[in-house]
Amino acid sequence: MAKKVRMAVFASGSGSNFAALEAACRAGDLSAEIALLVTDQPDAYVTERAQQAGIPVAAFRPREFDTKSAYEQAVLKALQEAQVEWLLLAGYMRLIGPDLLQAYPEKIINIHPSLLPSFPGKDAIGQAVAAGVKVTGVTVHLVDEGMDTGPILAQQAVDVIDGDVEKTATAIHEVEHGLYVRTLQDVLKK
Ligand code: GRF
Repeated sequence: MAKKVRMAVFASGSGSNFAALEAACRAGDLSAEIALLVTDQPDAYVTERAQQAGIPVAAFRPREFDTKSAYEQAVLKALQEAQVEWLLLAGYMRLIGPDLLQAYPEKIINIHPSLLPSFPGKDAIGQAVAAGVKVTGVTVHLVDEGMDTGPILAQQAVDVIDGDVEKTATAIHEVEHGLYVRTLQDVLKK
C-alpha cells in the first residue's frame, strides 16, 4: 500500500471541514492521514472534534508570543515533530507568515467561501449577499503571502439562496466538504 501523506489541518472555529477531511482519510478516499490539528483557538469546537477522532492537537495562544515569527516557529516545531508534509487551512483566521511559507513552499492549501478573487477576507458569504450577487461559491487555492490570493486549484459555484446569509452558508459548507476532498485527491495524485 502506498505510504500515506501526512497532513496538518489548521482551524480556528467549528471545524466542519476538518471533520470532512478526517472522514475522507478514515474512509480511504484520500491516501493521507491527518497527523495534527493546529489551532490558534484552544477553546474552538474543532479541538473537541479532533480529540474525539483521536487526532493530536497542537493548540496555541498567539498573543502569548512576542512576535508572529516566534508563534510560527513554535507551530513549525510541532509540525516537524509530527512529520507533516502538507498544511490544509480550514477556517484558520490568520494570515500565514514567511516562516511557515518558507518551510512549506507550494504545500499550503486554503478553502475560501467565495469565487475568488471576489470577496476575499472575512465574512465572504455576507459580502456576497450584501453585494446582491446571485451566484457565489467555493475556491480551493494554494496559499501565498496575500489574503486569499494564491493560485486557484478548484472552484465550484453555489447559488445565493433568497438573499439569505444563513441559507447560503449551509449550501456553501456542503459544497466545501466535497470540493476540498476532491481537490486533494487530484493534488496528491501529482
Ligand atoms: C469555511 O467556510 C471556510 O471556507 C472558511 O471558514 C469556514 C470554516 O468552517 N475559510 P468550518 O470551521 O470548517 O466549519
